[in-house]
Amino acid sequence: MKRSTWQWASQYFREYGTSVEVIKHSLKVNEIANFFAQKAIEKKIIIDLDLVDKASIIHDFYRGVTDKDHQKKGGEILAKEDFRLGRIVAIHGLKSILDKNAPYTIEEKIVFLADKLVLHDSGVILDVGIKIDQKPARQWREEAKVKVLKMLDELFFELGTSAGELWRAQKKN
Ligand SMILES: [Fe+2]
Repeated sequence: MKRSTWQWASQYFREYGTSVEVIKHSLKVNEIANFFAQKAIEKKIIIDLDLVDKASIIHDFYRGVTDKDHQKKGGEILAKEDFRLGRIVAIHGLKSILDKNAPYTIEEKIVFLADKLVLHDSGVILDVGIKIDQKPARQWREEAKVKVLKMLDELFFELGTSAGELWRAQKKN
């Protein structure tokens, strides 16, 4: 993460009372998102590195106020700075993948998927199902899980990387 990104994000964390647990989770999501973003650069894919860096660290800041609707409310606040940042945050919830707001741009997909790979602040969960299965199984969760796994597969392919490489990169850190 860029130093300036951390300085920017910590102002939000302070102002909205984001917890240490949420910040730890966000740091891990940021690490994975930046791994993907770097792979995109290697593949000469046009990507906004700053946007990925900022969105991945800030995505949960509003949980300091409330868990409920933190995506939408956080997104609204951040959209005032940059509408793309606002949108990434607004659509990072699992349910988005089932509707018209599904992640679409490379930056949106990367942040969405990186978040789905991190349970609390533990490292990569290669079976996305572990995180999703925490809560009682509901039909929509099962549908979302299938779509997340498909999107993840497509991202690995597009970026020329694999679950194994991501796993090894995590172990080094
Ligand atoms: Fe969240």
